[in-house]
Amino acid sequence: MKSEHLEQALERIDTRRKQAITVNDEHFREVNERIPEIAEINRQLFQTSRSLMQIIRSGENTAERIEKLKHQNQQAQLMVRRLLAANGYPEDYLEVHFTCPKCSDTGYYQGTYCTCLTTLAAQMATQELNRNAQVNLCSFDSFDLSYYRGHKTESGSDCYRAMEIIYHFCKEYAAHFSKESPSILMYGSTGLGKTHLSLSIASAVLEKGCSVLYDSVINFLRQIENEHFGRDKTGNDTLSLLLECDLLILDDLGTEFDTPFYQSAIYNIINTRMNRCLPTIISTNMDFNGISHKYDERITSRIFATYVNHHFVGYDVRILKAQQKAGRR
Ligand SMILES: Nc1ncnc2c1ncn2[C@@H]1O[C@H](COP(=O)(O)OP(=O)(O)O)[C@@H](O)[C@H]1O
Ligand SMILES: [Mg+2]
Ligand SMILES: [Zn+2]
Repeated sequence: MKSEHLEQALERIDTRRKQAITVNDEHFREVNERIPEIAEINRQLFQTSRSLMQIIRSGENTAERIEKLKHQNQQAQLMVRRLLAANGYPEDYLEVHFTCPKCSDTGYYQGTYCTCLTTLAAQMATQELNRNAQVNLCSFDSFDLSYYRGHKTESGSDCYRAMEIIYHFCKEYAAHFSKESPSILMYGSTGLGKTHLSLSIASAVLEKGCSVLYDSVINFLRQIENEHFGRDKTGNDTLSLLLECDLLILDDLGTEFDTPFYQSAIYNIINTRMNRCLPTIISTNMDFNGISHKYDERITSRIFATYVNHHFVGYDVRILKAQQKAGRR
């Protein structure tokens, strides 16, 4: 876990703790004003804790006297709960409600980090990595199938029909996403909506609360390289995040440089996630031939065999949009 994200997460958990206590203080004030019986009991309870300290200090019959006080205390609290209910309040209205009851919003549990802290830190790391991606800009609703109408593939089949199948597949995939979902390979020439659809999946799956990492292969590899060779001093561990997140989206595979470091990083990512049965979405402008030429057979055979393959077809939507715009002028 990265220290920077742990610190941010701790700060946020500490804020939650302070807020919970402030809310509790307000509840006390409100109830003390509205229900005088409870105000009186609270005063006595306060006295009890002072007597307790006196007993401990005096050291006389300590155990016995503490037991007696404890009992009185429990009776008083029971009474408070009854009075609250009788006055239309929830019985636990005067208890502090922490977001994480396990660690009372301290971030620590049984001598180590509480899961609420590590989960929050991982979410923050994910948010940071996705910050540059335009995850929010692309949605299934803004995907327009009419751009594929009237176009035929080289082999003469209908582009609209092919893209309609891909669109519905992606929508269903996002709606029913789980860690058991298959991996997807989106391939086809530029401007056909591969990035648009993979970002649409990303935002839908993020909304479900899953951890999703999205970026271009180039950006991921650069970041991993900088961290690996110590040029990045933040203590981030992008590679671990890529290997662990629920869904990883690698955009534009094939645009990175051919270096042994990159090749082995790509192999490591794809292979490790496959072995862990975690879904990955890869998009690329290369076709089967291109992929087979550029990458080791160990990677390509596994991708072709286990990923759901979607061939994007049609005419560059960027150009079509530009033509429409020009036509309207
Ligand atoms: N079917 C579509 N409907 C609406 N906009 C689209 C569609 N396909 C692509 N676009 C838009 O066209 C541009 C290029 O698409 P993109 O998804 O980046 O293509 P690719 O990743 O296949 O190269 C983006 O701005 C994208 O939002
Ligand atoms: Mg793209
Ligand atoms: Zn906790």
